[in-house]
Amino acid sequence: MLYIGVDLGTSAVKLLLMDGAGKIHKMVSKEYPLYFPQSGWSEQRPEDWFVQSMAGIRELTEACRKEEIAGISFGGQMHGLVTLDKNDRVIRPAILWNDGRTGEETDYLNQAIGKEKLSDYTANIAFAGFTAPKLLWMKKHEPENFAKIAKIMLPKDYLAYRLSGAFCTDVSDASGMLLLDVKNRRWSKEMLEICGVREEQLPRLYESYEAVGTLKPEIAKELGLPQAVKVVAGAGDNAAAAVGTGTVGDGMCNLSLGTSGTIFISSEKFGVDENNALHSFAHADGNYHLMGCMLSAASCNKWWSEEILKTDDFGAEQAGITKLGENNVFYLPYLMGERSPHNNPDARAMFIGMSMDTAREDMTQAVLEGVAFGLRDSLEIARSLGIQIERTKICGGGAKSVLWKKIIANVMNIKVDVIESEEGPALGGAMLAAVGCGEYPDVKTAADKIVKVIDTVEPEPGLVQKYEERYQKFKKIYPAVKGLF
Ligand code: XUL
Repeated sequence: MLYIGVDLGTSAVKLLLMDGAGKIHKMVSKEYPLYFPQSGWSEQRPEDWFVQSMAGIRELTEACRKEEIAGISFGGQMHGLVTLDKNDRVIRPAILWNDGRTGEETDYLNQAIGKEKLSDYTANIAFAGFTAPKLLWMKKHEPENFAKIAKIMLPKDYLAYRLSGAFCTDVSDASGMLLLDVKNRRWSKEMLEICGVREEQLPRLYESYEAVGTLKPEIAKELGLPQAVKVVAGAGDNAAAAVGTGTVGDGMCNLSLGTSGTIFISSEKFGVDENNALHSFAHADGNYHLMGCMLSAASCNKWWSEEILKTDDFGAEQAGITKLGENNVFYLPYLMGERSPHNNPDARAMFIGMSMDTAREDMTQAVLEGVAFGLRDSLEIARSLGIQIERTKICGGGAKSVLWKKIIANVMNIKVDVIESEEGPALGGAMLAAVGCGEYPDVKTAADKIVKVIDTVEPEPGLVQKYEERYQKFKKIYPAVKGLF
């Protein structure tokens, strides 16, 4: 049988067709616009997601035997607020995970309600990109829109709703709303009350690998697919990426270098770190995970190359970088504010340390290194909790760069396992669809069968030492400049 994985990302939807043995038959990508109506705001139109996903599914399946398609599932950009009225019309553009407009609401939640209570109710504290502060923002700034809300959902759930008619979400994605009692995998009554939301406005909760329904007849007809195709709940993109890289079970690590940068640590046991510096979320394999998220990762390199250097030949731009560990330029990667570990939507990016002999490639190198240092910040929190990480998987657009993987391995001093397919969330989505259709008994079995490590980037002691010194300097920059933001 065949399975479709849909990665509903921030810059594009990426779709993948996989067979039951895990072989990838085809991949398709369709872009859509991202709107920044004000500095630090970030929005998209759910209709664009739907239109491009439908076009993508058609292209993906045009040459295959359609009757073999058994299931479809998703990895979706997390935290985005999608609201529908009683006639199922989208009320306003979705407010995305990297939107920083909710500084006041985040402070209200963390200070007036209090971090301790939030952590008790949800296992997390408020961050500007999370969904609950966005609901409070909408309630205050757009009360007429807030009053119209009949359904609240996350980006990938909007797709599942349009495809199947099921008003559903999964526990991994729901964890990032700050409305879920993560430990018990159910909505938190306390948080619903704090946000002025009723349970019937929220989707039904599923495990990521559970089927929520089948294609609606009119959608099946439009796509030329059997109506029996199962729609499986799917996961937040990081949990889906973790499935796609085999980061399941206990104590495994995955790095994702997409628009955002994340470090994801799987765990069989529920756990919260004392300062809530890492997110404590449900995993798509039925367990839990800890995660640190930086808001701008591969997007820093994309911005630097495309917007500033006016080139999209990332390979050529990186080819001139030869002096690893010996750069004098530092880059703070906070183009959209920062989540982990600073929780500051007003932070901004900067270069520091240039001199007359600084060259273009030093600046490019500083961007790649700055992102690696940002990930190391989250790794340090995990290490401070006693979590030992010796190796990690890696995925996302940035993982295609051999140089960046080398920088990361040495900055973090961990082995980076390179897997056959770095298509994290889309592959994870297809694997969840396969589990939901009974091809595999559980997510772990699917991952053990499908994910293959093909190479390992080992840290080199000399370089690790050089980067250790650079990281110690990097760590001092944000506290020194924080007052400027
Ligand atoms: C995770 C997060 C991002 C988005 C990117 O908490 O906000 O990784 O999911 O799509």
